[in-house]
Amino acid sequence: MEIISRVPELRERLHNVSNIAFVPTMGNLHAGHISLMEQARQHGDCIVASIFVNPLQFGANEDLASYPRTLAEDCRKLYAAGVDVVFTPNEADLYPQPQTVIVQAPPIAGELCGAYRPGHFDGVATIVLKLFNLLQPQAALFGNKDFQQLFIIREMVRQLNVPVAIVAGETVREADGLAMSSRNGYLRPEQRVEAPRLFKALQQVVKTVRDGRRDFKAIETQTMQYLTMMGWIVDYIEVRSADTLAAAAANDRNLVVLGAARLGKTRLIDNIEFCVPQLN
Ligand code: PAJ
Repeated sequence: MEIISRVPELRERLHNVSNIAFVPTMGNLHAGHISLMEQARQHGDCIVASIFVNPLQFGANEDLASYPRTLAEDCRKLYAAGVDVVFTPNEADLYPQPQTVIVQAPPIAGELCGAYRPGHFDGVATIVLKLFNLLQPQAALFGNKDFQQLFIIREMVRQLNVPVAIVAGETVREADGLAMSSRNGYLRPEQRVEAPRLFKALQQVVKTVRDGRRDFKAIETQTMQYLTMMGWIVDYIEVRSADTLAAAAANDRNLVVLGAARLGKTRLIDNIEFCVPQLN
């Protein structure tokens, strides 16, 4: 496994490689990230992972400074997962001058998480497009855990004709259901015990809709009230079309329930994609 931090070196290493499967990350790797590395093998001969905590996607009051940076341990995990090249640029490598050209993510980027993190998805889209241009992968893998991010990347690639296949990986969870996340490490012990409730609440929404209810607004409000009662600060719980991410309509069959809520300062997100039978 090669660890490369400079752009010219990366270009030289990948110059004659035509079959790259790419997994972009911000590091502090867990089993969710590693499952993407393992799936990458099916999509390319050369697996490239990147580790870069992208300042452009963090808001002024967010956790850019405290985001966990664990490069040595990450590299050990990537080596064990069979990754060929790890790209670990620093800020000056990727942003040698102020980044004044920004990808404007599609309008959905202003909803759900985007409503609480203005500019976040523009920052994500910009770094992902930069990395795609640098590596020119034939496939890139993203987790369903960040459902809205994945949706926006797919939209960007389609609308900007970027020649890369976007592959989705399933959400990897802890034994108690909590979706793995680098931010779980911020949780205090009692918050860690409470944290799986977000997933359980989303599971309850799925069950309620599968049982036939279609009053999505009422279900969302009830779920938010319940989590609030349990001590969460809820940003949103929403049922949406899994195909378009528009608000769910009563006759939609492919749905996703998405949630974002905070325990103290730690913001957790999760979602469940599900199908319902056609109502008559
Ligand atoms: P990061 O949060 O490090 O996540 C990197 C990739 O791992 C993303 O595609 C994310 O969806 C996936 N992932 C995270 N947790 C997961 C889990 N529990 N199961 C499966 N996959 C999971 O997402 C980012 O970084 C950044 O926004 C990035 C795309 C790298 C751009 O900076």
